[in-house]
Amino acid sequence: MAMLSTTFTGLKFDNPFLLASAPPTESDANIMRAFEAGWGGVVTKTIGLHPVVNVKGPKTKFLRVDTDSPRLSTKKRPNTALHSSWNWELISDKTIDWWIPRLENIKKAFPDKILIASIMAGSGNDKELHHWQELTKAVQDVGADGLELNFSCPHMDRVDMGSNVGKDKVLCSVVTVAVKEVAKVPVWVKLTPATSNIAEEAEASFRGGADAISSSNTWPSLTPIDSETLDFEMSVDGYTSSGGLGGPAILPLSMAKMSQMTRAFPDKEFSGIGGVSTFEHALNYFLLGCGTVQVCTAAMLDSAIGPNVIRELRNGMTEFMDKRGYASLEDFLGLRRDRIVPHSQIKRPEQIDYRGGYEAEGYAVPVGAGTGT
Ligand SMILES: Cc1cc2nc3c(=O)[nH]c(=O)nc-3n(C[C@H](O)[C@H](O)[C@H](O)COP(=O)(O)O)c2cc1C
Repeated sequence: MAMLSTTFTGLKFDNPFLLASAPPTESDANIMRAFEAGWGGVVTKTIGLHPVVNVKGPKTKFLRVDTDSPRLSTKKRPNTALHSSWNWELISDKTIDWWIPRLENIKKAFPDKILIASIMAGSGNDKELHHWQELTKAVQDVGADGLELNFSCPHMDRVDMGSNVGKDKVLCSVVTVAVKEVAKVPVWVKLTPATSNIAEEAEASFRGGADAISSSNTWPSLTPIDSETLDFEMSVDGYTSSGGLGGPAILPLSMAKMSQMTRAFPDKEFSGIGGVSTFEHALNYFLLGCGTVQVCTAAMLDSAIGPNVIRELRNGMTEFMDKRGYASLEDFLGLRRDRIVPHSQIKRPEQIDYRGGYEAEGYAVPVGAGTGT
């Protein structure tokens, strides 16, 4: 009989599916509904020390493609399929003082469910590093089971916050060290996908003491321009800003980022995020080596916290495991991690040798590289 329970960074989950840090986890009411619906854990909407002010108008829209034409737009119309979500929402607009009693109540009501607090502060000086420590102590003292450090929010103007931390290996390490100095619970680091080799930022975070890496947050992007008005589909008074793309469109992109890390660190723990709405999607991350999977866009579109999504994820996982005779996630974790190889190692037609373009085989010989024969 399939067992969905699993242990990740020392925390015992009744199933490996979490709601990601986002609107589905922006309040105690939502989080409690999510636990009742069957999610194994949640990561709270990112909590900071100071209140933030969001843009005027909508903070999220959904991009859809026509089923019978290539049109891609956020405009509501019939016969479309979901392509992605696009958001420029900042972190929680509630302060840490608002969150503290609520985190405590959630844990009292659901002691066996896993509550991860997502936190964020600046990182430019010692005072800011102390803010990370202040947030850490505050949330763990009221029962948070773990922390997720937000090094990945794509809309921060400050150069020492959000994805700007995730793009800087030194800051990744320095902030993680500061948090680990006071953390008594596991520390997950959520990295931005917007770097060339995310394994380098993962390495820096692990060096700082991170217990796991989560990825991906949303990808920097713009909404399409309306050909009638010539305005971006998401704009305020004609102006827009780089926002974050989530949902189905980012599943293959996030898989590629995740595989860079799981191949570089096969013995470390990872939480996969990006484009998951069914078990078939989640399976991709498990097979790459992720011990948990997080969901945002699909849950937003399903009664705000995804009751049908979590039912399908759990049923899908049970059916898959029963069919294959797997007893636990351990039996298939990372099973396809090592099938990703350099292009030159993919089989060529018989008798034809290919060396990745390094030797003369139709390519021009690089300048100064000798004869190349
Ligand atoms: C409206 C919105 C708000 C989000 N807010 C946060 C946040 O506060 N902190 C964070 O770490 N990620 C945030 N995210 C990113 C999600 O947690 C998740 O990483 C991303 O949406 C990819 O997952 P998905 O494809 O399932 O949507 C947000 C995403 C959306 C769409």
